[in-house]
Amino acid sequence: MNKITIAIDGHSSCGKSTMARDLASRLGYVYVDSGAMYRAVTLYALRGGIAHDGQIDEPRLRDALPDISISFIFNPTTQRPDTYLNGELVEREIRSLQVSSCVSPVAALPFVRSAMVEQQRLMGEKGGIVMDGRDIGTTVFPNAELKVFVTASAEVRARRRYLELTAKGQQCDFADILRNVQERDYIDSHREVSPLRPAPDAVLLDNSDMTPAGQLEWLLHQVELKTNV
Ligand code: CDP
Repeated sequence: MNKITIAIDGHSSCGKSTMARDLASRLGYVYVDSGAMYRAVTLYALRGGIAHDGQIDEPRLRDALPDISISFIFNPTTQRPDTYLNGELVEREIRSLQVSSCVSPVAALPFVRSAMVEQQRLMGEKGGIVMDGRDIGTTVFPNAELKVFVTASAEVRARRRYLELTAKGQQCDFADILRNVQERDYIDSHREVSPLRPAPDAVLLDNSDMTPAGQLEWLLHQVELKTNV
């Protein structure tokens, strides 16, 4: 079977990463979490005082970009790639609410986006990839054979994120998470460069009432439709 490129885009916290990772592992494809890249840039900016109190020092971040190296290494225990920032494992830190609160303004900066998109295209050069994010089907891989646009209600998404963080032992408040989900939706959909929207040829998936297993079956069926032509 020929290996295709699969783009999974959608709103924050709707389980894109889990579904993209499961799909990639079933197909023997590479999985790339593009959001982790924007999160790693944000962590770098927060640590270096380039971003604080909701302000981003854009010239400093632009100058720092060549010093930010992001890589992924497959973790056999979790069966998913871990994110490394300049060689340091940052998988846990990039998922914190502090990073989530600052990532969308960082990801809206055109120079950050162009640097990340360039790296993402290199990762997907040979096909056989599942990448999830906001602009994968519209900007990164506009020729992807399969594009999926996922959503679910904001409350369902905030509940999932809350359970994910508390399961990892992180203290959090549901109202803060819901607010963060809604704010990120707004910024992601209204930014000038690559705003979040479905590609015209994307298939839509509202997974509010779907189980992970049901969703994986649905996705595998979509892949079959694209590869058995
Ligand atoms: O896991 P969740 O869907 O909540 O977010 P994520 O995929 O980790 O992405 C974090 C943030 O990075 C998003 O809220 C977007 O602001 C930004 N992002 C983006 O602009 N473009 C992408 N391709 C991926 C993420």
